[in-house]
Amino acid sequence: MAKKQKYEWQVGSTPPPLEEHSAAKHAVFRSYLQRYIEILTSDPRHDGLALTLVDGFAGGGAYSYQGQIRPGSPMILLDEIASAQAVFAAKRTKPFHFRPEFIFIEQQQGTLEHLRDIIARSPHAPNLGTNIHLLNDAFEDALPTVIDSVQRHRGGHRALFFLDQYGYGDVSLQAIRTILDSLKNPEIILTFNVDFIIAFLSEDDSFLRAVMPAELGVDHIRAMLALRDNGGREARWLIQNFLYRHLQERTGAPYYTCFFIKSPKSHRSYWLVHISKHPRARDEMANRHWELTNHFIHHGRAGTQMLGFDPGKPIGQIPLDFLFDDDANARSKSALMAELPHRIFDARRVAAGGVTVGTLFTEICNTTPATITRVSDAIVGLRAEGEVQIYTADGKERPRTQNCAWGDVILPAVQRSMFSPFT
Ligand SMILES: C[S@@+](CC[C@H](N)C(=O)[O-])C[C@H]1O[C@@H](n2cnc3c(N)ncnc32)[C@H](O)[C@@H]1O
Repeated sequence: MAKKQKYEWQVGSTPPPLEEHSAAKHAVFRSYLQRYIEILTSDPRHDGLALTLVDGFAGGGAYSYQGQIRPGSPMILLDEIASAQAVFAAKRTKPFHFRPEFIFIEQQQGTLEHLRDIIARSPHAPNLGTNIHLLNDAFEDALPTVIDSVQRHRGGHRALFFLDQYGYGDVSLQAIRTILDSLKNPEIILTFNVDFIIAFLSEDDSFLRAVMPAELGVDHIRAMLALRDNGGREARWLIQNFLYRHLQERTGAPYYTCFFIKSPKSHRSYWLVHISKHPRARDEMANRHWELTNHFIHHGRAGTQMLGFDPGKPIGQIPLDFLFDDDANARSKSALMAELPHRIFDARRVAAGGVTVGTLFTEICNTTPATITRVSDAIVGLRAEGEVQIYTADGKERPRTQNCAWGDVILPAVQRSMFSPFT
């Protein structure tokens, strides 16, 4: 039996409605793309950029929203790259060779034809078939061709994969590993519907088959069932944490964020997972979550142990929802000010001349919703309390009022208060 499709696109018919959580997903995707291009083109010494943009679950390219037509993810990709190219052409004095390739994969032929029709009626029409490639296929079946194409596109294997699956099983963890192992500079933005797993958790054969792509076997399911049955009010949070760790371990994702898309209208919770090989890319994605306050939610802690759970502690410890807002910012700062000192005061580190801000951030970035700016803010707060000193990379003490930089070195203050909570 064919899987029921949530969205239907047909050439000549009104496109499906855009739901609130998809609008939030598109907003973060658009904002991330803008920043991604800005960073990759910021070095004036570079005279070109080769980049492959893959939309693995492309859809029909348009939605209806309050009587208007809104772009779907492939059109957002095309529009953002075109506007970056236009800004560039106006700004750069020497020629810059921007060579984007677009690969849009869609399993439903009618939906793909809708996308082709939307592109053909847009300013991007001349590029159809030259650097815009439409594949009528399942994402995983197309993946070897996509990887081959990225590898042949000269310029450091730079590729951004947007994998907007409906549930959790159309992008296997093996496919993520294949992308990470085959390409030097991939980034992946993946939707993963954790609530579907929690809602249907069982040892039934059909469920076990459905969760195979996520590499969840019967032992994992039993562990999650035990959390569900014994976890009381925290059960849901515990299962989410279990799945968070599972995804990170199994994909081998070097840098990782995974927060919930929040929708006022839908109770459905799913993760927007971002996977990269660079801590700064991870920081930029976390920045987008903070920028789009209230569109995302983290069910966990503020500091460096965002998933930490101590089974010995009473139920009251379940964290408050974290909405990337002012309150979350204040909680982040105080949690980081409490949790960073033990990393800074480590005797071996002090003996080796201190730890850089970049090292501290890289160590904690997979386990905190904070960004480098917030880590820097907490370090400046620790200096104000007389706990640490901040030195620039060339060994000078950083002036009082400033934030710190990635390469700054942090050391315990020479004269710490005898009342310091960290002594
Ligand atoms: C959530 S919609 C995508 C929406 C699109 N990313 C956007 O934001 O505008 C998912 C799309 O993936 C397609 N699809 C489902 N399974 C697929 C698979 N295994 N490979 C490729 N496309 C698939 C569906 O037909 C549907 O059009």
